Amino acid sequence: MTLAHLPTPPMGWSSWNTFGPTVDEAVIRQTADALVSTGLRDLGYRYVNIDDHWQGGRDGSGRIVAHPQRFPGGIEALADFVHERGLKLGLYSDAAELTCGGEVASLGHEERDAETFASWRIDYLKYDYCHAPVDRGTAVLRYTAMGRALQATGRDIVYSVCEWGGREPWLWAAQAGAQLWRTTGDVCDSWNGGDRVDQHGIDEIGFDLQRGLERFAGPGSWNDPDLLVVGMHGRGHVAGDMGFGGCTDVEYRTHFSLWSLLAAPLIIGTDVRALDEATAAILGNTELIALNQDGLGRQGWRTGTRDGVEIWCKPLLFGDVAVALFNRTGQDAVAVATLGDLGLHGEYAVRDLWTHGDLPTLAGARGALTTRLPSHGCAVYRLVPRGEARTSIHPPR
Ligand code: GLA
Repeated sequence: MTLAHLPTPPMGWSSWNTFGPTVDEAVIRQTADALVSTGLRDLGYRYVNIDDHWQGGRDGSGRIVAHPQRFPGGIEALADFVHERGLKLGLYSDAAELTCGGEVASLGHEERDAETFASWRIDYLKYDYCHAPVDRGTAVLRYTAMGRALQATGRDIVYSVCEWGGREPWLWAAQAGAQLWRTTGDVCDSWNGGDRVDQHGIDEIGFDLQRGLERFAGPGSWNDPDLLVVGMHGRGHVAGDMGFGGCTDVEYRTHFSLWSLLAAPLIIGTDVRALDEATAAILGNTELIALNQDGLGRQGWRTGTRDGVEIWCKPLLFGDVAVALFNRTGQDAVAVATLGDLGLHGEYAVRDLWTHGDLPTLAGARGALTTRLPSHGCAVYRLVPRGEARTSIHPPR
């Protein structure tokens, strides 16, 4: 038995952004039902991940237990509940004695906890790194210990490393058994970050902090720029509670487009029990989800910048290419990208993935995508080669 393979980035929901320390089993049940009733499950959002604060300490025999007030029915019953709905359950722990939120964690209990998690039939483990030493060697040892323990259970459990990028997990986390690893500190519900160095907005995380990491992503190995804040609008734990006012729908569209191009995990952080129309349309954009879930499993990258507009591409199966134009500036901008800018030759059919319409065919090095973008807005296209067109594009070295 091997660890979960995860050929495309995981999709689902996490309790952290909205509920933080107040998560309980009613929220998890209602969220599972909402993922089904909104249709999000059928679009691929399968993992229901309980983040920190599900724990209630250890019992007399050292076995980790769920919080008696907030999870009185226990985790196993919740796993059954979500499995009956065609969903999967995720859980959280930390490679130290305590988690980031001060709950009991798994250092020194790796085998025991992995066995417990497997006996509860969980499908995903996010493993955090608060209260652990800063050096890389210790991190490799601690993450490997949990990776081995998960593998020894024989259950397919996705293993998500969360040490925030400081020890370059893209170089070692796959060997520790992980299928994904956080690349940065926590995302905030804002375009720009907060005052603290570990509070990043979606602009900084998406455009700047993933640069150069594209070569470490591929089927079974994903860079994780953290949860989606799409639709939060300043509500919930990483938003209002932390003083962030949220983003506009234009910005959330850009956030979702960027995470799709980055082949990032699409883990929803907003409350799916109360989705507004705009949020449902963003999270439910099947053409963008298809870019994210493309079978080639490549992470996109920036190919250039023109007048503050960034041009990004992501190679897809069958020679298709995703191209995105992002206006990072504070003003409206006219965005232009030619096939030559992208290093493409020949003729391409063009599909606009936000208006869901077909555009005129592009041909020749000067064939150009042109559009007007609001401040912080974007356009995303799928280019499909026609006839002799051949796609061979590579990330910058
Ligand atoms: C860290 C992680 C977050 C979240 C919290 C929980 O800050 O980076 O994603 O899991 O811990 O306490």
